[in-house]
Amino acid sequence: MSAIPRNTEVELDECLSHYKYVFNPNLLQGQVAFITGGGSGIGFRIAEIFMRHGCDTAIASRRLEKVKESAKKLEKATGKRCLALAVDVRKPKEIEETVDEVLKHYKKIDILVNNAAGNFICDAENLSYNAFKTVIEIDTIGTFNTSKAVFAKWFKQNGGNIVNITATLAYKGDALQVHAGSAKAAIDAMTKHLAVEWGGNGVRINGIAPGPVEGTEGLRKLAGGMADQVKTGIPLQRLAQKCEIADMAVFLSSNAAAYMTGTVLVADGGNWLTSFNNFNMLKQVLPKPKI
Ligand code: HXC
Ligand code: NAP
Repeated sequence: MSAIPRNTEVELDECLSHYKYVFNPNLLQGQVAFITGGGSGIGFRIAEIFMRHGCDTAIASRRLEKVKESAKKLEKATGKRCLALAVDVRKPKEIEETVDEVLKHYKKIDILVNNAAGNFICDAENLSYNAFKTVIEIDTIGTFNTSKAVFAKWFKQNGGNIVNITATLAYKGDALQVHAGSAKAAIDAMTKHLAVEWGGNGVRINGIAPGPVEGTEGLRKLAGGMADQVKTGIPLQRLAQKCEIADMAVFLSSNAAAYMTGTVLVADGGNWLTSFNNFNMLKQVLPKPKI
């Protein structure tokens, strides 16, 4: 067991009652971060921890009421500013208008976190053509749309940092996840391609591939009621905390990672090395597709 005390996480989209700093609290002082899907789950916690390090944020997703409610909580807990915006990352025009809004409000963007995603459990045989396309559109195309718009409107001239949130699904070809695994693998490739093309503009692009994270929609959808069983198969014998993924995003966005670009950091407690991946058995025990 680690002797370092960890944070007490919160299951729902609420701020931490107390946050134990790993880094200097001023690490992101005066910066502005744009976080897609920042109204819930891991994205919400990334927004909170960035703000606790002195950063203002803009969070955007499809449900405006949800992001507005989250922005209020984030501002109250951290004393920093959070702009709530509605966007569907699949739609280039909407994402361009949203980036314009962020720039109008804050006059700059220093950090982009591509966190928005969609997922569910389904085997390839029963996955509809549209279901596969939908996940690719939200995850992969959404990440490209947002990165391209932020680059064109700000990073090209001013530099900046991109953090892409992906997953380890494709490392072993996880059962029932061909849609999300393919989408996230393509994002990891994009991380490298864009790092090569945009390095000369002072843009660093890195990724984080989390394992199962407690208190998230992702875990609820993928593990169903089996979170305890999942835990026992992970070398570190526990799920990730949202704040642990957020701390990694702080690291990659900060000067502590000043010479890092084109990399993906895995934060999964060793899960992908040992995770159970028997297709026929998982098909029996995991939730049936809703189609
Ligand atoms: C099979 C499904 C399905 C399911 C939807 N579809 N849910 N197929 N099983 N459970 C199919 C639909 O039938 C439809 O195909 C197509 O997908 C599009 O569905 P819509 O509902 O029209 O799409 P949309 O409204 O855009 O919603 C996208 C969504 C939804 C992905 C389906 O769940 C969503 O918005 N999710 C966002 C939140 C989320 O998923 N968070 C978890 C991220 S976790 P047809 O053919 O009928 O038209 C994550 C974890 C990664 O990514 C790794 C963990 C280790
Ligand atoms: P989550 O709370 O459902 O986060 C996904 C967010 O994306 C939501 O806020 C959602 O908001 C937004 N979103 C979905 N479709 C969108 C669209 N078309 N346009 C704009 N925003 C959209 O789930 P999470 O579990 O925290 O996942 C966050 C990230 O971590 C994802 O990239 C996921 O793949 C990754 N991840 C999660 C886990 C895990 O165990 N949870 C593991 C590995 C990787 P709206 O519905 O309002 O649009």
